[in-house]
Amino acid sequence: MYVPPRIVTNDDLSALVDTNDEWIRRRVGIAQRHIAVTETTADLAAKAARNALDSAGIDAASLDMILCATVSADYVSPNLACMVQKQLGALCPAYDINAACSAFLFLLETAAGYFARGKAKTILVVGAERMSRIVDWSDRGTCVIFGDGAGAAVLGAGDGYLDSVITVRGGDSVIKIPHHAGKSPFWDGNCEEPYIQMNGQETFKYAVNAMCGDIHTLFDRNGLTPDDIAWIVPHQANYRIIESAAKRSGIPQEKFYMNIERLGNTSSASIPMALDELSRAGKLTRGDKLILTAFGGGLANAACLLTW
Ligand code: UT7
Repeated sequence: MYVPPRIVTNDDLSALVDTNDEWIRRRVGIAQRHIAVTETTADLAAKAARNALDSAGIDAASLDMILCATVSADYVSPNLACMVQKQLGALCPAYDINAACSAFLFLLETAAGYFARGKAKTILVVGAERMSRIVDWSDRGTCVIFGDGAGAAVLGAGDGYLDSVITVRGGDSVIKIPHHAGKSPFWDGNCEEPYIQMNGQETFKYAVNAMCGDIHTLFDRNGLTPDDIAWIVPHQANYRIIESAAKRSGIPQEKFYMNIERLGNTSSASIPMALDELSRAGKLTRGDKLILTAFGGGLANAACLLTW
């Protein structure tokens, strides 16, 4: 993982909008987030990618594919993966997937397809976000939630990716991030600002239902009980979402990894960053069964079961 060094506290935000540390901690569970000052989304992504390559002990020339997840790329084109390829000095194909906060799990599914067809041996997957570029810093309902960061993993073909579930309920009424409106002299329709708009309560309900449903699907299909799972690694959007999902699914909350207090909601980067923290803290043992679970814009949700 990589996060930019600048830490922004809740008190820092209360100087910008009508909010306070107590509300943000109690309603969302965030104390601080990292915010980029000069680094681009591609810089964050490439730094996380280099860390992943170092820890895998391979160089960029050995990659067969680079897949990136983001909703906050620096450009529409070239996509983020192209810019990561350039910074790493790799030569392999590279492209992005946009599925908002669930996108890292879409990358795993896509990579599994390449491995199954024998089309790749080593794939770099990266979730990277500079959410600070796409939040409306005058909207207290969203600007206090998000943070910047990137997480990456080097994947190899194997039998550790056991099962997955992906769901999309397409529509723009709950969460949307409009593109720049453009300046067409012929356009006579809506012109929206290119910032996140979110109905928090609707998203909250969707998130709890989606997580519980996906976890139970994976449990039922694979004959598992909570005792079989070492960790559930959820998208870090709100500690109350994770708490509600734990309560409703009957799985002890200690099995749900949480780092939202320090990092905020980093969209597609949150799951790979959580995995890196778990791994570096020595909390993962080879053979552990993990469930990764995410939800967000689309609306989309996804989960997968894997053996570490
Ligand atoms: O990762 C992408 C997916 N996104 C999510 O999963 C987000 C899911 N939703 C949430 O996490 C929560 O809905 C929020 C954190 C966004 C909002 O929390 P909430 O408990 O649902 O608050 P609310 O929107 O119901 O607002 C409650 C009150 C309102 O005031 P009134 O109308 O009761 O007087 C808001 O205006 O809290 C007020 N409020 C704030 N107050 C202080 C909203 N934002 C803030 C704020 N500081 N930052």
